[in-house]
Amino acid sequence: MTKNTIANDLLYGRKKICFFGIGYIGFTSAIAYASKGVKVLAYDIEPTRVELFREGKTSVPNLREWLGFDPTVLARHGLLDATTDWQDLIVPENNVFVVAVPTEKNGFPFKDYVMDVLEKIATTKTKHPLILIESTISMNFLPDIIYPILCRGLGLGNFSVGVIPRRDWFDEDSSHTLKNMPRVVGVDNDTMREEIENIVRIVSPDVRRASSCKIACLTKQVENCIRMIEIGTAIQLSNAYPRTGMLEALNLAGQKWNIPTLFGSCRVSGYCLNIAPLYLQLSAEHPEELTLLSAALQTNDNQPAIVAQAIANRGVKKVLILGLSYKADVPVWTESPSIQLSKNLEHLGIETRVHDPYFSAQIIKEKCGIEGVEGDFLQLIPDYDAIVLISGHREYKSIPKTSLLNAMKNTKLIIDNDGSWDRIDFGVIEYQRIGTPGWRGE
Ligand SMILES: NC(=O)c1ccc[n+]([C@@H]2O[C@H](COP(=O)([O-])OP(=O)(O)OC[C@H]3O[C@@H](n4cnc5c(N)ncnc54)[C@H](O)[C@@H]3O)[C@@H](O)[C@H]2O)c1
Repeated sequence: MTKNTIANDLLYGRKKICFFGIGYIGFTSAIAYASKGVKVLAYDIEPTRVELFREGKTSVPNLREWLGFDPTVLARHGLLDATTDWQDLIVPENNVFVVAVPTEKNGFPFKDYVMDVLEKIATTKTKHPLILIESTISMNFLPDIIYPILCRGLGLGNFSVGVIPRRDWFDEDSSHTLKNMPRVVGVDNDTMREEIENIVRIVSPDVRRASSCKIACLTKQVENCIRMIEIGTAIQLSNAYPRTGMLEALNLAGQKWNIPTLFGSCRVSGYCLNIAPLYLQLSAEHPEELTLLSAALQTNDNQPAIVAQAIANRGVKKVLILGLSYKADVPVWTESPSIQLSKNLEHLGIETRVHDPYFSAQIIKEKCGIEGVEGDFLQLIPDYDAIVLISGHREYKSIPKTSLLNAMKNTKLIIDNDGSWDRIDFGVIEYQRIGTPGWRGE
C-alpha cells in the first residue's frame, strides 16, 4: 500500500498537477513532473504554446536540447494536456496549482500576471488547494497580493502557499538541472509543509527547507544580488584599469578557492540578475543600506555608453552588433546590452545595425529603435568596419574560421562580449574583450 499523500496521488495518476504559464520555467517543470509519470494540465494565454504542449513540444527554442530527451513520448503516454480555458483547471478534483508566469515588464518587477492567475485559482471549490509559486517574486508580493487574493476567494486557513524558486539554468552545461540542483522550498503552513516538500521532491530530490515563504523569496533575491555585485565589481575593475589587462587578472584571481571567475562585459541582462535584485530593494526594511547593490546596478546600466565610447575612440564608421539575446541560444531580449549599445553608438554618429538569428529585423527595430538586419551574417560583415559580438549563439561560434576571416576583409575592430571567439587568431584586426589591454581605445 502506498501512503496516502498528495505526492503519491500525483505519482500514481490519481490527481493532476496544474500549471499556469508554460514558458521556460513552466514548460520544463511540467515536463519534469510528467517524466515521473505525473499527469499535467497546463494553462497559458498563448494558444500556440497550448497546442504544442499537448504534443510535448514548445515554441521556446533549444529547450528540447536542454531537456536532453524527447518529451513527445510523454504526450503519447497521455501525461500532457493543456488548455486556453483556465476554468478547466479549476475543478474540485485538482488541488495542486503551480504559478510560472512572468513577473517583470519593461525592466521592472511586475505583479499583474501573478495577480491574474491567483484571482483565477481563488475561484476553485477544491478543499484546501496548494499553490506553488515558481515565478520569481518579491517577498512583499505575499502580504500585498498573494494572501489577500487567496483569503478573499478561499478564506483564511483554507489553502497553503509554497514558494519554490528555480535556480537551474538553461545553458549548455547540463549539470544545472532541476534534478541535481538543491531546491529551496518555503511553506508557511506547518501542517502542509511535508506535503509540499514531497511534491517538489518528485522533480528536485534535494529539497532545502526555508523556514517561511518570505525566506524562500529572499534567498532567490540574495543569490541574484550577490552575483550582480560580483559582476558589477568585474565591470568596474575592467573600466578602471583599461590599459593593464584586468581580464587576465580576473581570470587568475578566479583560481583562488573562494573567488568566482569573473569578466567584464557590455552589460548583464535578462530578467534574473539585473531585475531580481530590484525585488530586494523593493522589500528591504532599510533600502538605503543596499549601496553596493545600487552601485552594481548603476555600473551595469552605464556600461553600454562606456563600450560605445571605446568603439568611437577608434574612429569607426559602421558597426554590426551580432546578437540581441542576452545569452547564447536563449531567444530572450529582455534588457539586452544591444538595445542601449546601439542607441549610444548612433548617438555618437556611428551607423549601427543589429543581427540575431532568433529575431526578425522587425523585432530588432522594435526593441532597439534602429534598423535590424536579417540573413547570413557572413554576407553582412564586409559592410562594416567594426563587429561587436554580444551573444555567443551557435550560429556565430560554430562557423569555419576561414569563412569568418575571409568575411572580415574590411573589419578593423572586434569587441567580443563573452569571449566566444577568443581562440581565433584575427591577425591584424584589433580584437578586444572588455578588460583586455587597451580595450577602451584611449
Ligand atoms: N527563464 C529563467 O531562466 C528563469 C529562472 C528562474 C526564474 N524565472 C522566473 O520564472 C517566471 C517565469 O519566467 P519564464 O522564463 O518561464 O517566462 P516565459 O516568458 O518564458 O514564460 C511565461 C509564460 O507565461 C504565459 N503567461 C503570461 N501571462 C499569463 C497569464 N496571465 N496567464 C497564463 N499564462 C500567462 C506566457 O504566455 C508564457 O508562455 C518569472 O518570474 C521569471 O523571473 C525564470
